[in-house]
Amino acid sequence: MSVQHRHFLNLSDAGGDAIALMLNDALSRKAARQHMPKGMPDPDEPLHGRTLAMVFEKNSTRTRVSFDMAMRQLGGTTMVMDAGSMQLGRGEPISDTAQVLSRMVDGVMLRTDDHGKVVSMAETGTIPVINGLTDLSHPCQIMADLLTVIEHGKALPGLKWAWLGDGNNVLHSIIEAGSLLGFSVQAACPKGYEPDADFVAQHGANFSLTRDPVEAVTNADIVVTDTWISMGQSHAEEKLAAMMPYQVTAGLMAQAKPDAIFLHCLPAHRDEEVTSEVIDGPQSVIWDEAENRLHAQKSILLWCFGLLG
Ligand code: CP
Ligand code: NVA
Repeated sequence: MSVQHRHFLNLSDAGGDAIALMLNDALSRKAARQHMPKGMPDPDEPLHGRTLAMVFEKNSTRTRVSFDMAMRQLGGTTMVMDAGSMQLGRGEPISDTAQVLSRMVDGVMLRTDDHGKVVSMAETGTIPVINGLTDLSHPCQIMADLLTVIEHGKALPGLKWAWLGDGNNVLHSIIEAGSLLGFSVQAACPKGYEPDADFVAQHGANFSLTRDPVEAVTNADIVVTDTWISMGQSHAEEKLAAMMPYQVTAGLMAQAKPDAIFLHCLPAHRDEEVTSEVIDGPQSVIWDEAENRLHAQKSILLWCFGLLG
């Protein structure tokens, strides 16, 4: 891979300084095109001539649309493929797929179950690889979350983020962001559903775990949750029962700081992980967060193609 190309598999691939640079770039590009039609490219078209292949082994709305529009706004083009209709879905190795894509397109975004597949794609191909969600992490989502928090007037260092519910891929990337950017993350998770111990050992410098949802949200600036059943997991009644005390309710939100905001990566299950009152209420910033997937993605792409930082 050419030295100016970079992979974005986890937030640590970029590090705190590059993340700050990407967030600033996203804010200024977003501001600069406020009144432009969404399909019109940014005037500088920095990715003119480049094509991103997007490979999905799992469903997606936000990741798919935001990467597609991000490439269009940067002057590039995209190719969207469901893995099931590729030879990948019939067992062609990820490494062979990586070689072929590297000969034909300029970058690849992969959404898959096993994080090892994005690593293998990066190691065996010669083009930038972006993690569009694995079972381990969802770094692109957290870039949008960080942007949203900043836009809502909160400087990242020193904040308290409270996570409620399942210790999943989204939480992992928040934990990583906390250690890279200097904010604390406290998660309240039921027994048996904690974040991955190895991931926490590696990235959890600013992370703490509790069983008590009230402790987690007390004095929190940000309250965040996610679906209790992630893609690929079976819909177990016992898991839903274990999660119920961790539902984000108005009562729980009242324990956070008065100006706390509520985040959810979506898709949401109203009245499971969060009540309708909270997710549709005044502290919820989920639509800004969803829109920011687009703006964050653009800066991630520019960084990966060596055009930022
Ligand atoms: N938050 C998120 O990644 O949404 P999609 O699954 O719709 O891409
Ligand atoms: N934790 C969820 C996130 C979806 C965007 C999942 O993996 O299904």
